[in-house]
Formats: sequence, structure tokens, C-alpha cells
Amino acid sequence: MKSYPNFQILYYSTVDSTNQLARQFAEQGETKELLVVADQQTAGRGRGGKRWLSVPRECLTFSLLLRPVNKNAEHCPQLALILGLSLAQAMEKLGFHPQLKWPNDVYLNEKKIAGILLENAVRSDRLQWVIAGVGVNINVKKDNFPQKLREIATSLFIEGKKEIATDLFLQEFLTIFSSWYCNWINNNKIQHLLEEYTKRSMVLGRLVTYEKQGKRYQARAERIDENGGLWVIREEERHRLSWGEVSIASNNKTQTQLNFGSDGGETR
Ligand code: BTN
Repeated sequence: MKSYPNFQILYYSTVDSTNQLARQFAEQGETKELLVVADQQTAGRGRGGKRWLSVPRECLTFSLLLRPVNKNAEHCPQLALILGLSLAQAMEKLGFHPQLKWPNDVYLNEKKIAGILLENAVRSDRLQWVIAGVGVNINVKKDNFPQKLREIATSLFIEGKKEIATDLFLQEFLTIFSSWYCNWINNNKIQHLLEEYTKRSMVLGRLVTYEKQGKRYQARAERIDENGGLWVIREEERHRLSWGEVSIASNNKTQTQLNFGSDGGETR
């Protein structure tokens, strides 16, 4: 039984993007698993080509270079669930009650607090490497969010009214993540993971909207399956969303736009 992680840890004060740096290492043939942490990113990347905020000592920004070589690309959504759940459980250890927005965003009090950007390389159907980039708003003060994010984003500081050392949070996360990751690598059972994820889901039972081939649909989110797909019911038919842009209707008032990666995907 292989035990994880065996990360080599690389700390930087300033980089353009920890994902970008981790990718360079991967593409240059780095065989070790890495944890790349930066105090500040000058070109932090979010999903859908968006920028990711980076305030030194207020945001935790890191990327894991992972080599789950016994998995294939279809398993990547499971890894997204593991990452999201581990972030949520790390916050719970510190007394917060986060929720998970499928597949891998973390929310506190209906505002986004953490995001995950996954990139991978596949050869002969096997994952060669995965880069899991994680951004967590730890000590961000409200005024340090750009105006347009102030109503939709939050931080542990805003919610908990006290500073938390970014290293402490990272340590909590790594301990929890390592355990889930190790389980995932060593056996294919993800039932327990799914139960824990589902308990914290803020999407299930709610109306979501999503786009497919330029058309917008509204449907009720019903369940998340073993492969990380979201099943929705639309006009009494079930559809499976594998990845894509999803919005959630909050109290029928406003719709919060969430970006969940590049390719929309729905099957029936
Ligand atoms: C999202 O859009 O929700 C995903 C945000 C991911 C941001 C993190 S910060 C560390 C890593 N490096 C990047 O450039 N992006 C990810």
C-alpha cells in the first residue's frame, strides 16, 4: 500500500502563477510530487480564463503536482471532489461551516471562499500528472477585494473576525487531503468520500442553470455520482453534467455566476 504524500515543498515569495510553475516542472520531467506555495502571484489564474486575486499573507495560493498514474482522465472529477472536501474539512477543524458547490468550489455563508484549478496531462489513457491549484481567501479584508467581488466572495477573516496563519491552514488541509488521496490511489471505493461531499453540498435540491452548446437550461440538481458527475432533472428527464458553467439561483433573487472549468458537458 503506497502512502502519500511525499511532496517536495517549494516556497516562493512571488511567482506569476504556482500552477504555471508546477506545469513547467512537470513538463521538464520532474518525477517527484511537489507542493509549490507562493506568498504572492502576479498572474494567478482562475477557471474560465479569469484572474485569481492574490493579496500577500491574506490569500493562500499553492499548487500540488500529483502523479496518480494508476488513474485515467475520467477519474479527475473524483480528485476535484477530494480537494473540495479536504478544504471544507480543514475549515471545519477551525470552527467554520463551509459548503461545497459542485464540483470544487468552497463557500461560506453563500459566498465563495476557495477555488480549485485542475490541469492534467494524459498519455495512453493514463494520467501522467495533475496540477491542483488551490486559492483560499484566508485573511482577506473586505476592502482588499475588488468592488465587484465584495458581495460574492468572502474570507475566513471576514467570517471569523480573526487572523489565521496561512501555514496552519495549509497544514490542516494537507493532513486531511493526504488521507483521502491515499485512499483514492489505493482503492477505487469512493462511497464514503461521496457521502461526506454530499452532506456539505449547497447545490443538491436547488435550481441550477447551465449552458450547453450555446443554449441555457435550468434544472434541479439531484445527486452526484461516483464519477463526480452532477445529475439534474429537467422537464422530468434526468441529465448528467460532467463539467461546465453552472449558476445557482439564490433565493430566486439573483443568480451567482460560477465557473467550473472549460468544457460544458451533459449526457443523458
Ligand atoms: C477558480 O477559478 O475558482 C480556481 C482558482 C484557482 C486559483 C489557484 S491560486 C494557486 C493556483 N495558481 C494559479 O494560478 N491558480 C491556482
